[in-house]
Order: sequence, then C-alpha cells, then structure tokens
Amino acid sequence: MGDRRVSNSTAADAYTHFIEVIRRRRSVRRFEPGRRIEREVLLKIAEAARWAPTGANTQCFDVVIVDDPDMRERVLDVFLAQSNRLIDHVKGFPAVKKTYMTNTVAIVIVLADARWKAAFPNATSTEWEREYQENNERILLASIGAAVQNVQLAVTAMGLTSAWLSGGGEDTTNRDLQALLGYPDCLRAIGTIPIGYPEKDLASRYRRPLQQMVHWNGYDASKFRPDAMVTHYVSEVRPFAMYRGEEDAAHWEDADKRLGPWREAFTSDTPNPSAKLP
Ligand SMILES: Cc1cc2nc3c(=O)[nH]c(=O)nc-3n(C[C@H](O)[C@H](O)[C@H](O)COP(=O)(O)O)c2cc1C
Repeated sequence: MGDRRVSNSTAADAYTHFIEVIRRRRSVRRFEPGRRIEREVLLKIAEAARWAPTGANTQCFDVVIVDDPDMRERVLDVFLAQSNRLIDHVKGFPAVKKTYMTNTVAIVIVLADARWKAAFPNATSTEWEREYQENNERILLASIGAAVQNVQLAVTAMGLTSAWLSGGGEDTTNRDLQALLGYPDCLRAIGTIPIGYPEKDLASRYRRPLQQMVHWNGYDASKFRPDAMVTHYVSEVRPFAMYRGEEDAAHWEDADKRLGPWREAFTSDTPNPSAKLP
C-alpha cells in the first residue's frame, strides 16, 4: 500500500466529516414505513463491522442481516416479548415499545463467539485464572462494542439511521433468537441494530460537557460524579436524557425541575467542586 500519512489540512477535513458522522449517529426508534434497501448497501455496512478492532484480531463475531420481511416480523415478535419482560422484570426502565421495528429495512444482529477467548491472554496457573478469565470476557464484549459502533456509523454515513439494542443478550431473548436464526450455542446475540430511514431528523442528544469527562494526566476528583447525582439521574433525568434532542441540559425548558439540586453538577465542568471522593 502507498503512504497513508495525510497532510494537516487533509486531516482537519477528514476530522470534520468524521465527527459529523459521529455526532449524527443517533439512536432512532421511529422509521419511515414501506422503504426497502439493496443488499449492496447492507454489505457496505457489514464491511464497516469487518474492519472493527477485535482482541487478538480474532474477529470474534458474526453478523446476521435480516432483510426478509417475514423473518423481520419474527424477529420483531422476539423483541415484543423482550419489551414485555422488561416492563415486568426490571426497575422502571424507560424503554419504548419495539413495534417500530416493523418499519426497518433490515435488522443486523451481532453475535459474539466466546470460543475466541482462547486467543486472548490466558493464565499460566489457577492463581491468575480468574483475573484473566474476567478480563477476557471484557475483551470479548469490548470487541463486539467496536463492531456495533462501526455498523451504526456506517448506517449514519449512508443516510440511514439505527438503534443499538442490548436487549437480545439476555438469556431468554438470546434463546428465542437462536431458535429463530439457528446459530450454535457458542454464539450469543449481543447487539441488535434495527436500521431504517428516519421518520424525522434527530439532530442531537444530551451529552455532558466535554471538560467534565476529560482528566489530564491523572484523575481529577472535582470531575467525580457523586453517588447522589447518579441516583438523581436514574430516578429523575434518565428518560429525558435518553430521548430528548437537545445536547445541553441547561437549555432544557424544564432544566430546573429535571436536574433539581444537581443542575450545576450536570451542566458544569466540575460536578464535585469539593474534590472529595467517597
Ligand atoms: C451497550 C448499549 C446498549 C443499549 N441498549 C439499548 C436498548 O436495549 N434499547 C434501546 O432503545 N437503546 C439502547 N441503547 C441506546 C442508548 O439508549 C443510547 O445510545 C443513549 O440513550 C444515547 O442516545 P444516542 O445513541 O441517540 O446518542 C443502548 C446503547 C448501548 C451503548
């Protein structure tokens, strides 16, 4: 291959396009009905997954692409049952009903193949076994995360939109998907990505300030988010942070009500000005 180094101006240009795609990637749960897509486009999306980094270059995943309308309805049934279980089995999670999946042009299911953990660093004796085994699970999941992210970014770059559903990785849902799609026991559905044409443009989403998450050369305790702030997020902020199209929570009309005593913490660079740690 030729020299892949780029000049500063080309790099600046590339970053502009790159961050544009990154920022435009949105979890969208409403798609235009009645649309179709070519397999050629879906293969371009899969190609992005193929180039994801994976532990020890094991490429420890497969992607099942569902583009047949009948199969899509059967996958939808699995996820409707999954949503119903969420209502009953988890604590007040603000999930939306998954009927929107009927309007997808395709559904990509990323399957993790746990056998490849054998290629990650494995312990020489039982003394270290737990430490390396646990880390290998993390390496596997992080690899799948990279693949899902690449899929979502490629989807965005192609003018489509998607969501990232972790629902599917639960044992029950995985079993249902396995029965439907026919993959062997060593594989598990970790990410399910419904893809479609967005019903409306969802330009943005809540994000905390950049400086709040960046620590230079060591952990800055003034940026630690106190436990009570996490609790407040779970009980008061979560559904708004998940679904609203406004990045800066300070601009929410009802910011005072939603953020309460944690308004400053959510919107400033230092949520923990005292820098005390638990
Ligand atoms: C690991 C992971 C699991 C997720 N699981 C779900 C899910 O099951 N259902 C869903 O609707 N969104 C899911 N999401 C999407 C998040 O809710 C979404 O990324 C977040 O609210 C930020 O919104 P944005 O993606 O539009 O920026 C998941 C995201 C990640 C990274």
